[in-house]
Amino acid sequence: MSDQFVARSLDEVRFWSRIMKEHSLFLRLGFRCEDTQLINEANHFYTVFEAIENRSNAFTAGTDPSVIKRFNEEVHAAVTYIWAFKRKVLGLILTCQLPGANNFPLLVDHVSREANYFRNRLAELNLGRLEPLPDAIIDENVFFLRIMAEHAKFISHLLDPSERKLVEQANNFSQEFDQLLFQAKNLEYMRPQSQTVPLLDQFLDQNKVSVKALRDFKKTARDLIEACRIKSIIHPLLADHVFREAEHFLVIIDMFESSLKSKHA
Ligand SMILES: [Fe+2]
Ligand SMILES: [Fe+2]
Repeated sequence: MSDQFVARSLDEVRFWSRIMKEHSLFLRLGFRCEDTQLINEANHFYTVFEAIENRSNAFTAGTDPSVIKRFNEEVHAAVTYIWAFKRKVLGLILTCQLPGANNFPLLVDHVSREANYFRNRLAELNLGRLEPLPDAIIDENVFFLRIMAEHAKFISHLLDPSERKLVEQANNFSQEFDQLLFQAKNLEYMRPQSQTVPLLDQFLDQNKVSVKALRDFKKTARDLIEACRIKSIIHPLLADHVFREAEHFLVIIDMFESSLKSKHA
């Protein structure tokens, strides 16, 4: 257990516990007034992840790794519970038991996949078993490109239909990321032969250009929503949330790029 384990764990938990906390808020906002049980459950998860976030901020890089390992296990359990809650809500929506509620099924599925991703990261960190770099590059990109494609779809559907220019831009991003996702899947099916340094490097370059453009679009949308300059039913915090997830993906791409370079040198 090294210092790097502590730093990596704290980075992941700080980022994703805030995300889980916000998912609880978004789910709650989408429930109907009479769904008091679901509202209470969502509020409960908000408190749980707020506490985890606060604790993760109180730890430092110098904290004993064994303390962090136990903390990761605790967080892992909490994430498993919120994942099950999200899947339960998805089941209720898809069996038409929440008519008139305002959470899209794809959004609920999306936030459950993010929980599952977080859970896997925690398990990997605690086992000290990281995927080989060429596999990690493809798997992480497949995961995040799909997330980005869905964000574009959510933005398009939650903007007011009269915001025609912005809806069109969001739809263009949706198509662009669907294409990138298919390309990533093609690279995935062609592995291990596809895992050459030049191909992986080009893959990262190309994805990075598009993620930067989407990140900038989300930032603009967030600023416009905060300033009440556009018509939508997007919560300002949701706009900021998807912006932060794009930033996080860019950090991961940068990390892969430098690892590929140092491996190649
Ligand atoms: Fe999210
Ligand atoms: Fe997301």
